[in-house]
Amino acid sequence: AIDIRSLRAQTGYVAFDSGYANTGSCISNITYLDGERGVLSYRGYDIAELAENCTFVEVAYLLDHGSLPTRDELNEFSQMLNDFAMIHEDMIRFFDSYPPKSPPMAILSSMVNSLCSFYPEMTENPLENIDRMSARLVSKVRTIAAFSYKKSLGHPVVYPRHDLSYCANFLNMMFDSPVRPYEINHKVVAALNKLLILHGDHEQNCSTSTVRMVGSARVNLYASVSAGISALWGPLHGGANQAVMEMLESIHESGGDYRQYVERAKDPKDPFRLAGFGHRVYKTYDPRCRIIKQACDEVLEDLKFSDPLLDLAKELEEVALKDDYFVERNLYPNVDFYSGIIYRAIGIPTSMFTVMFALGRLPGWIAHWKEMWDDPAWRISRPRQVYVGPLSRPFVPIDQR
Ligand code: ACO
Repeated sequence: AIDIRSLRAQTGYVAFDSGYANTGSCISNITYLDGERGVLSYRGYDIAELAENCTFVEVAYLLDHGSLPTRDELNEFSQMLNDFAMIHEDMIRFFDSYPPKSPPMAILSSMVNSLCSFYPEMTENPLENIDRMSARLVSKVRTIAAFSYKKSLGHPVVYPRHDLSYCANFLNMMFDSPVRPYEINHKVVAALNKLLILHGDHEQNCSTSTVRMVGSARVNLYASVSAGISALWGPLHGGANQAVMEMLESIHESGGDYRQYVERAKDPKDPFRLAGFGHRVYKTYDPRCRIIKQACDEVLEDLKFSDPLLDLAKELEEVALKDDYFVERNLYPNVDFYSGIIYRAIGIPTSMFTVMFALGRLPGWIAHWKEMWDDPAWRISRPRQVYVGPLSRPFVPIDQR
């Protein structure tokens, strides 16, 4: 039994909030999220309007600068992204040292941390030229992501081009090759813009809180973001988009009996969960999922790509949403449930899905890191714990244990 009195005598009162479900860790004006009504906006702009009308670069600017860019501001920002697109040739050699089947998220996280060595000013004076240093990160993460894919195939890397937009450039670096030149398809570019925008920020999720937690110790932006990438990797967080596709593929390959998976997810003795279902904050339909689900139909039709996994996903959703277990727990599909189907349609392999999430979430991480550094009420993050171990034990020498 816990001796509460002596615990208080030792620590004073500590609020115990498992998983920080009810703890506001900061004051922010970046993203508004109402999980009861399913409302999400960045800097006051509704997510649906941004996804419909903006490019990812505009939204990255909005998140990191607080307002949508004018045409001149957008040109200047895009120019910076172009100027910073290359990575140091020595970094390209890093890729050769990883085993061929290395997890792309491990490569991305370590490469981003390595950027601190190539830009030592980031460590020496983290706030100097922060807008340029942020743009450098947004641009280079795209190049690192595409190069890691090329290297995983054993193919030569494709260098960034100055004449292509952010998303077109990424797709070209991913898919162009000397034997099969890549043709830019504007519908594919538009679909990618939409997905990245919808992943741009989501207030204090696990990876963003990690960026803030690490940054609160006054760690520079690149190292803090590297920690955020590691947090995003988890299957309960950004790794869920990969888990969804693996789940749908396995249902499809085993004959399509999705009801059996729904039953497994309900069994308290089985650790299996429906990937892409449930959310800590949303107690209704995730607004991002609604947009992505609709985009799935449009993109697949535009590309004349038929995917049995989309039908499977819709049927599974329908059954789950009528099931008492899911209804009672407010479990709805989240942002990851349909995103993989679009990624698959535009040619992105499943192993790269979580990297794509990182690409989208990057402006959000940067915005939070900057906001925290500017916060006059900043303090190092240092939660307490409720200790329940023994308070005093007699020491026993090693040969008497
Ligand atoms: N399938 C089946 N049951 C579920 C699921 C699911 N996907 N998600 C939650 N539950 C159940 C839990 O078993 C629990 O049931 P109980 O009350 O009978 O014990 C109840 O719903 C509450 O679940 P918690 O784990 O307490 O919810 P929490 O807020 O801690 O977790 C999370 C949220 C991690 C997203 C969870 O719903 C989950 O594991 N989902 C699957 C993974 C996923 O899709 N992650 C992506 C989230 S979105 C994002 O990060 C981009």
